[in-house]
Amino acid sequence: MCMISGKNSLHSHSILGTPGTAPTIITAIEMGLKNFPYSGVKSDDDLTVEHLMICAKCHLPQLEDATDDVAREIVATIRAWQKAGKEGDYDKADDLEETIASLNIGCTVCHNKMALIHKWADGYPQPDTVYGPSATTAGSHDDETFDKIAEAPALGESIFCGQCHGTGPNFEFDHPSQCATLYGSYLFSYVAHGGSESCQECHMHKSGLGHDMQSYKSKEMIAMAFDIKVEGRSLFWRKNKEEGVLPIGVINVEMYNKTGHVVPDD
Ligand code: HEC
Ligand code: HEC
Ligand code: HEC
Ligand code: HEC
Repeated sequence: MCMISGKNSLHSHSILGTPGTAPTIITAIEMGLKNFPYSGVKSDDDLTVEHLMICAKCHLPQLEDATDDVAREIVATIRAWQKAGKEGDYDKADDLEETIASLNIGCTVCHNKMALIHKWADGYPQPDTVYGPSATTAGSHDDETFDKIAEAPALGESIFCGQCHGTGPNFEFDHPSQCATLYGSYLFSYVAHGGSESCQECHMHKSGLGHDMQSYKSKEMIAMAFDIKVEGRSLFWRKNKEEGVLPIGVINVEMYNKTGHVVPDD
């Protein structure tokens, strides 16, 4: 059995989310796609992979290689899950939630599809190859479909995470979307002010969490997040003749963000 597990991380259920992501995809379809005059979407039957990629680029990048039927099936499953929940059919809702949670950023998304970033230099990911930080560590992957191992030179660099953790609007789309922009603040604030640690150093190594990449929901990350200094003192203050001298408290709170970016990312 493979010892690497990120099953508690949001990557392991990146369409369901907290579970806030799946409902927000439906909102994007209802409030966005169906209202836009040039989107070509009047009903769910008109949805294509291209429409869902404005979210799936980062939440399920492998959808790019699927058919439009798969895109429509995902949306139908989310709707059925919402309906079962509303109608109190909890067994059905749990089953459907499991199906939605199985759509994720799994091993092969990071170690194959997204692994090679500078493709003109490093080549295009091959279907039979698993890419690791070095050609030897990649070998501990236990998936039978991959018989070759190779190095992904940038897997250990922040740019790898930056592919999905965003810099701003995704201008490559006919209708740019924007969600996560944390990689932008990492580059333009943290690195620009001399910060030198990578996403992997903080989130995978210093935290001790490895593939279980976490944020404020974990005590390991919270312990690394802020320096907080609190000072309090009491004073007496002469307010006016009627009320006389009143005690007041002065509390000074200084917070220093020790992460590599803004928090929260919104
Ligand atoms: C293929 C795209 C992709 C890549 C590559 C990726 N992430 Fe993520 N990451 C996501 C998505 C999407 C979510 C949120 C899923 C959700 O909640 O719907 C997420 C969530 C997270 C979270 C949890 C955020 C929270 O609010 O709790 C952390 C931490 C994180 N990623 C760190 C990293 C780090 C570090 C790397 C690089 C080693 C990385 N990610 C690489 C797409 C990606
Ligand atoms: C550029 C990549 C990217 C795109 C495009 C993108 N997201 Fe996200 N999204 C992320 C990442 C990464 C996170 C989590 C990290 C964070 O909070 O900083 C996230 C977090 C979220 C969250 C909050 C997390 C949760 O589990 O509740 C929701 C909701 C969400 N995305 C919905 C959407 C929807 C809907 C779309 C399409 C309209 C979309 N996103 C497009 C990368 C993206
Ligand atoms: C969100 C992206 C992401 C996902 C998903 C992911 N990995 Fe990784 N993996 C990485 C990164 C980044 C590194 C390099 C970390 C570093 O810089 O040390 C890595 C390193 C590794 C390594 C070598 C170093 C080590 O920790 O032993 C192995 C083996 C590995 N991953 C296996 C897996 C397996 C198996 C899965 C699925 C259960 C998986 N990975 C899922 C991003 C990911
Ligand atoms: C210097 C250490 C450090 C570096 C570098 C760093 N992080 Fe973080 N990150 C943290 C800590 C600590 C937290 C927990 C704080 C929180 O979520 O409130 C965090 C939180 C997050 C969150 C959740 C944000 C939210 O809305 O609360 C995401 C997503 C994330 N990091 C991704 C990344 C990615 C991607 C990179 C690289 C581009 C990166 N981090 C670089 C330490 C770091």
